[in-house]
Amino acid sequence: MMNKKFPILYGGDYNPDQWSEEIWKEDMRLFKLAHINLVTLPVFSWTMLQPSEDLYEFGWLDRILDLLAKNGIYACLATSTAAQPAWMSKKYPDMLPVDVDGRRRVHGKRVNFCPNSPVYRKFAARLAGKLAERYKNHPALLIWHIANEYGTYCYCDTCAKAFRNWVEEHYKTIEEVNRRWNLSFWNHTLTDWEEIVVPSELNDDNKWYQEIALDYDRFITDSTISCYMEEYRVIKAITPDIPITTNISGLIKHLDQFKFAKYIDIVGWDNYPSPTDDPSTVALKHDLMRGLKAGAPYLLVEQTPSQQNWQPYNKLKKPGEVRKLSYQAMAHGADAVMYFQLRGSIGGVEKFHGAVISHAGHENTRVFQECARIGAELSKIGSRFVDSRFRSKAAIIFDWDNWWSVELSSGPSKDIKYFEQINKYYKAFYDLNISVDIVRPDSDLSQYKIVTAPLLYMVKPGVDQNLNAFVSGGGTLISSFFSGIVDENDLVTTGGYPGKLRELFGIWVEEWDALLPEEKNSMVISEKGKYLADRYDCGLLCDLIHPETAKSLACYGADFYQGTSCLTVNQYGKGLAYYIGTDPDKAFLSDFVKGVCTEKCVTPPMITPGGVEVTRRYAQDGRAFTFLINHNMEKTDVCLDKDYRDMLTDSVISGYFTLPQMGAAVLENL
Ligand code: GLA
Ligand code: ZN
Repeated sequence: MMNKKFPILYGGDYNPDQWSEEIWKEDMRLFKLAHINLVTLPVFSWTMLQPSEDLYEFGWLDRILDLLAKNGIYACLATSTAAQPAWMSKKYPDMLPVDVDGRRRVHGKRVNFCPNSPVYRKFAARLAGKLAERYKNHPALLIWHIANEYGTYCYCDTCAKAFRNWVEEHYKTIEEVNRRWNLSFWNHTLTDWEEIVVPSELNDDNKWYQEIALDYDRFITDSTISCYMEEYRVIKAITPDIPITTNISGLIKHLDQFKFAKYIDIVGWDNYPSPTDDPSTVALKHDLMRGLKAGAPYLLVEQTPSQQNWQPYNKLKKPGEVRKLSYQAMAHGADAVMYFQLRGSIGGVEKFHGAVISHAGHENTRVFQECARIGAELSKIGSRFVDSRFRSKAAIIFDWDNWWSVELSSGPSKDIKYFEQINKYYKAFYDLNISVDIVRPDSDLSQYKIVTAPLLYMVKPGVDQNLNAFVSGGGTLISSFFSGIVDENDLVTTGGYPGKLRELFGIWVEEWDALLPEEKNSMVISEKGKYLADRYDCGLLCDLIHPETAKSLACYGADFYQGTSCLTVNQYGKGLAYYIGTDPDKAFLSDFVKGVCTEKCVTPPMITPGGVEVTRRYAQDGRAFTFLINHNMEKTDVCLDKDYRDMLTDSVISGYFTLPQMGAAVLENL
């Protein structure tokens, strides 16, 4: 990933343009006290770099970069293009986006530009090029950071025109568009490219044409990538060896990050869990970020060291919490731990956002001391586990097209939420400390023993073959209700659900029943085996299944379909395909996943008490690193399965090892 062998990167966003040069010097002292080795800047300074159309000013940036280099600190050099100057918006108002209600936005936000605006793109690429030319040999330059948290949906005329071109490129003829979008429905048939309209709330709801809305989501991802690529190409041509990142704002629905990540050298993401998030949800997001580039380590580019300002209630992170979250990130594949922000602003909407250096301005704060402790530990660990990978035997399939389409769908239930389903299945593995890779539906699945594809509503071309090959080769596949319904354009596959997956699962789903929010049914287990109890609750949706070649393992306990199958298994080639036709309770998923993992000998790195997460990363030379994260609010004893070297104390440990509350440890396997 990086072009040199670096230690764990530690630092964060820094806004020197908000501070005097006297403060910069003090900041260098504080950064070194905290063992900070990487500073991201300048993320939002476009006007200071380009005060007017033909004037560029780099003097202040030269000085801060020189100061960083002098202090042995690297720069993650940002292109500053996430917020265009006010003079630019004023002179070129067409670059401001138009929202789904048809309103042109005004200057005053950030990421407030149309991704297809030729003027924005021209100026952004020009600035990126100037920065690259000027700093290509600067000793501080380590990584490039393009823009910040892309994700604007725009519906302006430029976008509408670009969308028409996109559609033409994809479908070639207007007849094909009519077919792919099934436009004879409600007399939506098109006779000319110019008749294509973009989704709009002017018609009360922007989802009347679901097939168009789905393609608009794809188009916005493509537009965002091509906007980003304008900067990427210019920078790459000048500094081919410096990796380029852009920060992904957590797990966002509106951009297909699998697609975007192909164009990013190192994935970077911003982790802002809400106080009520389960640790497994955070772990899942990390695993997804690792999955974006097929297992490559990534950068945790932002987290808050203490509190945020933008949640409804901004709880402080408790002592030990940011350390725990930092180690959890590395436990899932991060090779950088960074904060938003290093020094807190005195004004603006983020003035109450946490910072390593708070408004007090010195190091004698709880938060600074905790950050300094983490920094000291990471500098001790150095580069030992950097670039190490995972050897997961289980994977979960995740797909943005599927996410978009299943949630665009009018019916069968407004409560069907894709991420919620993924999260539930992930948690069942997480609670067993089974390492899970998050993969695309078309990923190579041959390294896995168990693949789970919850709610695989859309089956894109080739995906059925991929799953068939996985199962026939001996793999175990688990899927769930409302799967195999539509093709890549959201058109139903006729002939019986689950469409192209019917033979694989050996079932025919004739109908489904959407349950009311408070309504439950139950799964009555016919063959309990070693792992399952007699009965579990289920809800949300009940597929009415006819097993064909599959064997029924459980039946519904109520309603007119009582006694019909809700859980099946099909032998397909050398493997097994399980179909869970409803939304089961947690207890079922945990028992069921435990059973499947045991049968397939998919095991955790070590058995730990509840609340203690354990993961393992492997270096290329075969060394292994075991991470222990205690999510409990009390100290917890772990019985180590063998001898390890504690990388923080450098001592060999065995037997009982005590983790303090929210404690974390990295152990080298001996
Ligand atoms: C995002 C942005 C940062 C900052 C933080 C605040 O992640 O990238 O610039 O606004 O949120 O939490
Ligand atoms: Zn636009």
